[in-house]
Amino acid sequence: MSMEADYIERMKRLMNWEASRQAPPEGFPHLPDMPAGRYTSQEYYDLEQQYLWKKTWLFAAHIDEVPDPGCFMKWENIGDPIIIIHGMDGEVRAFYNTCRHRGAPVVTEEKGKAPRLMCGYHNWTYKTDGSLIGVPEKQDFGPEFDMSCRSLIPVRCERLGNLIFVNFDSEAMPLKQWLGPVWDEWEEFGFDRIKLAARHSFDLECNWKVAMEANMEVYHVPFIHPETVAPLVDSKRNVNTIYPNGHARMLAPPPQTTDREHVRAVDSPPEWQQIDTVGEFGRTCTQSYTMFPNWVSPLSNYFVPPLIFWPTGLNTTRLELVTMALDWGDGPAPDLWTVPDDSQPNGRAMSPIILEDTQFGEMIQKSMESDGFKSVPLSYQEARIYSFHQTCDKMIGLNRVPEHLAVDQVIGEDWVYPNDPRVAEMERAEAAE
Ligand code: FES
Ligand SMILES: [Fe+2]
Repeated sequence: MSMEADYIERMKRLMNWEASRQAPPEGFPHLPDMPAGRYTSQEYYDLEQQYLWKKTWLFAAHIDEVPDPGCFMKWENIGDPIIIIHGMDGEVRAFYNTCRHRGAPVVTEEKGKAPRLMCGYHNWTYKTDGSLIGVPEKQDFGPEFDMSCRSLIPVRCERLGNLIFVNFDSEAMPLKQWLGPVWDEWEEFGFDRIKLAARHSFDLECNWKVAMEANMEVYHVPFIHPETVAPLVDSKRNVNTIYPNGHARMLAPPPQTTDREHVRAVDSPPEWQQIDTVGEFGRTCTQSYTMFPNWVSPLSNYFVPPLIFWPTGLNTTRLELVTMALDWGDGPAPDLWTVPDDSQPNGRAMSPIILEDTQFGEMIQKSMESDGFKSVPLSYQEARIYSFHQTCDKMIGLNRVPEHLAVDQVIGEDWVYPNDPRVAEMERAEAAE
């Protein structure tokens, strides 16, 4: 049996074993309650702002947003003003949108196209690779003035196929290493071929982690998605995998009783071109990946549709709903997460599934800020959330997180891919049958 077939067969057995077990896996750590202050305290929020968001790889754009040499776009999703620019040499780069003279923006439009960038204040001019090439009345800066030391300040910018990621930490590990095994698992989803079909954002009235966590467990699926997701997902057969650096995956087959026609009608509109390299699980199961810190995406043979969560304040979040897919021909671009709505400013509203997932956010946030809320107990099924919080603390620095706000680092390496103690327990159970 090939490695691939071997893996698929083992995961299928694990699905059945998950459905049959009567307790959390042997040796799986007890998850201590998480402090409420992680969602409500300015102190923790400030630590996230200062360390977490400045050190991790963040989805910034799709190449279709800056398709040609000279195309640029502003990007300010974590506050600092930057630009993503497709250089005249073909390379995509990111820079602070900050003129090296007195800090005026070098770009003021949301998007544009130009072979050079010129600051509007005193017309300092930069090439698309960031180098400063024009300073009016340069002689007045004196003979010591060295233009070669005044390039735009770069922000790390790397590609995953057509997707552009940025990282404010110049020392950060490369994106490929950050994703680790996830990079390899994503190869089949055609990231180098998918086009941007839709990208809309919505403001939510809760902490970004409250919003994000609605998409990091399947425990809620039968209860808040009885009509939409539940018919597609056998939550009891779900298998979670925790990867290094806080990434994670859920992998759930459809219910064994599912009417296949119904699944196809909801999940796989046949008119869209399939990503032909997608393997068995992507075609038949629901799998959803969390890429730390703020990307959640179910991946299938039809779509790469990430939900992306940006903090806009301690208790406010901007949710970006993105759909990427292969060529959709002359028909309307697919948009998995939004529906037309003329009453909304951008003409779109969140889809029923997203409304279900976001419905409690504002109320949860209010409760969390009240004395009625003490802490968060999580079950084994919700372990992806706990692991995510462990990584938040690690990115901030374990020594920086005050004890009353920290989570205990109880999920150890032994539960992180490729390690999986569940397999041995499953094999013992199978042998005993
Ligand atoms: S601030 Fe940009 S040219 Fe003066
Ligand atoms: Fe959900």
